[in-house]
Amino acid sequence: MKRVLLIIGGGIAAYKCLDLIRRLRERGHHVRCVMTKATQEFVTPLSVGAISNEPVATDLFDLDAEREIGHIRMAREADLVVVAPATADLLARMAQGHANDLATAVLLATRATVLAAPAMNPAMWSHAATRRNVRQLETDGVKFIGPNTGEMAEAGEAGVGRMAEVAELVERIETLLAGDDETGRGLGFITVSSKRERAVAPLPLAGRHVLVTSGPTHEPIDPVRYIANRSSGKQGHAIAAAARRLGARVTLISGPVQIPDPEGVEVRHVETAREMLEAVEAALPADVAIFAAAVADWRVATPGRGKLKKAAGAAPPQLELVENPDILRTVAKRGARRPELVIGFAAETQTVVENAQGKRKSKGVDWIVANDVSEESGVFGGERNRVHLVTASGVEDWPDMSKDEVADVLLRRVSAYLAESRESV
Ligand SMILES: Cc1cc2nc3c(=O)[nH]c(=O)nc-3n(C[C@H](O)[C@H](O)[C@H](O)COP(=O)(O)O)c2cc1C
Repeated sequence: MKRVLLIIGGGIAAYKCLDLIRRLRERGHHVRCVMTKATQEFVTPLSVGAISNEPVATDLFDLDAEREIGHIRMAREADLVVVAPATADLLARMAQGHANDLATAVLLATRATVLAAPAMNPAMWSHAATRRNVRQLETDGVKFIGPNTGEMAEAGEAGVGRMAEVAELVERIETLLAGDDETGRGLGFITVSSKRERAVAPLPLAGRHVLVTSGPTHEPIDPVRYIANRSSGKQGHAIAAAARRLGARVTLISGPVQIPDPEGVEVRHVETAREMLEAVEAALPADVAIFAAAVADWRVATPGRGKLKKAAGAAPPQLELVENPDILRTVAKRGARRPELVIGFAAETQTVVENAQGKRKSKGVDWIVANDVSEESGVFGGERNRVHLVTASGVEDWPDMSKDEVADVLLRRVSAYLAESRESV
């Protein structure tokens, strides 16, 4: 049995701690809770005490506990201190080394590892002061999980600031208690500090097979000409790399691109949509399939065997187009060997979200990552992406991020989804 000291900050996500406590106790851990003054506006010590089956500590100057210098004892006894939700204010106080309430006094007195799960409005999270505090705390050795991207409690607000899901928190807490940690940073990045740790860290997608498609397809007109599109493959390749960083075995089926293969990933190079479908089928089964390639909808019915010649006075050749196979639909609708999670990308130039919602339903896909690829957006070929995640439960508008960040956040969501579904089995 391990002793987890949970410091619950005064944010709207405080209610999630009840579930967190329950799940930690189910795993046999002893959970003692500290609530700040603000936290008690969101959840009551009564409910936290009932779920944890322990008295809840709220006051630095609680005389009974102070006879044993309660906060020092609490700090010493914990195997792990978890701050969830870690409010902007609590992070600021921690970064400054305050000790003017029970939560901060314990945090200053503990020698145990501290894991913080920030949760706040995206503007607060991206503010220079919070960035500075997080950097300071990371330097001081505090571990972070999240925040994730998604809807905020405030109507119409979305972005980076949601507390990590309870399943993610439990997984990370178990890892830290087992002493096998990888260092997680904001926005879902996981950086692994040494090769030795990389070898032992139980990463969240370890044992999973993730299939990713990326890049454009080239559909031949004749041996030297083809129909293509402006996809660079940067987003799909970033997704493959992110899945690999989280420990998955990754198969990347790539159309013709000008960028290098990601490290540690098995890459199959293809040209046409039909070759891509064949390679995808050959790579199954997979736990997750993410279709980020921009597959040509049509191909030329009968490509010229030799180079089409321009003859003086002759009419230009007429190209008859036929439909290419729909790789996304084929995989999403297959019965046997359908991946547990099928994710499509919808590159649109207008009514982006509406089209994506339609595509999700008609193709039987679980999630659609929709983005605006109109010329003004600069997405095709660019380094940044602004996407919307369309799932059965709604639409999340993610903030403008680099393609690497989009990939990291998406793969963290995938890990959380798989962890949840494993638990509910
Ligand atoms: C309705 C409401 C919701 C709040 N949600 C958050 C939040 O999610 N994250 C945050 O950092 N602060 C939030 N705050 C502000 C904190 O409650 C405030 O900064 C408080 O001083 C934090 O105290 P603590 O860190 O000691 O718990 C919220 C305030 C209100 C009134």
